[in-house]
Amino acid sequence: MLKEIYEQPEVVRRCLAAYLKPDWDGNQETALQSSPFNFMLPDALFASVAEIQIVACGTSRHASLVAQYWLEQLAGIPTRVRSASEFVSAPFPLTANTLTIAVTQSGETADTLAAIAVATTRRSQAEGSLPSWLLGITNQPESSLTKAVDYTLLTFAGTEIGVAATKTFIAQLVVFYCLALEFAVRRQVSAQPLSAQQLGDTIAALRSLPDQIEAILKQQRELIQVIAQTFADVNDCIVIGRGISRAIALEGALKLKETTYIHAEGYAGGEFMHGPIALLDAKVPVIAIAPAGSVYASMLTNAQKAKSNGAPLIGITNVTEPSDRAEFDHSITVPAIDELLSPFLTVVPLQLLAYTIAVQRGLDVDRPRNITKTLTS
Ligand code: G6P
Repeated sequence: MLKEIYEQPEVVRRCLAAYLKPDWDGNQETALQSSPFNFMLPDALFASVAEIQIVACGTSRHASLVAQYWLEQLAGIPTRVRSASEFVSAPFPLTANTLTIAVTQSGETADTLAAIAVATTRRSQAEGSLPSWLLGITNQPESSLTKAVDYTLLTFAGTEIGVAATKTFIAQLVVFYCLALEFAVRRQVSAQPLSAQQLGDTIAALRSLPDQIEAILKQQRELIQVIAQTFADVNDCIVIGRGISRAIALEGALKLKETTYIHAEGYAGGEFMHGPIALLDAKVPVIAIAPAGSVYASMLTNAQKAKSNGAPLIGITNVTEPSDRAEFDHSITVPAIDELLSPFLTVVPLQLLAYTIAVQRGLDVDRPRNITKTLTS
């Protein structure tokens, strides 16, 4: 798992190289007229999709929840995400011009394959009146998923062995972000259409991600070791995030559960106030994902409330103002980045923390009890 966490800068580089056109020139006035990406998907798909429906499980579902935010906020496309296992018994209503996306790093998760089968059957029965598209996102080019879908986007993360997914998660984020940006560029439908300058800046920010992840891995390891020692014996932990960080809170909590067996729960910061805050005391640390941006102030209010209820507070933030960080008992710093791109950075300390606590507890990080890498039945 540690090796795979450290491979993430390279994975992001590789995945970006696969989808970013090498000759795209963001300095041109005409930048918006030619897409920066190379998806090999039909133009008609980009032109006609009115809704996106995503099915996935576990970590792949969390990547999909981050993507939902991007597809809605960047590209203005109504997007729903459902656990594949729930979709089978309660599929989304059939709608026209819908892109269904199935996400599975292994390409073999039984629930996700079953969801695709259900989606395909229902759509074929409604053929003609409901044009639709079926896309898979996976790390496995030769898999049951790729055989079941019309189009595939690969994540190029290399084989992942650790049961707890890390590098495949970040690669899924790269693919999803690029896809959302492609829709945004082609459509220019959002309330605030992108300017050529913004697009150029965004591509430059994407290209900086590998170095920024490397910086976190180099600079925060020691602090994370200290935090892991401090909290290695807790039974419960809460992870909170707002907006784009909500899904990262869920993913951080899942990493802790999978590797450390700590009862960890992820919540949206606002929702956390409506009941779960009753769980807090001095033995329940709260991890607040608090990147600078539109929800930082509300996140800090949630964090202060947690602290006033006795909980030790760990912040993951790129806010550098000391007075703004003062609430945190420990603050893990990530590099400055646009809020929408922050999941690429905020997830990394959570992966490292889960790994380090699991090692502290003497657990077999790569082969946790009760779970398998791929649930095929
Ligand atoms: C299993 C693993 C999870 C993983 C999930 C989805 O439940 O224990 O860690 O996230 O499968 O895997 P997939 O291969 O479909 O992405």
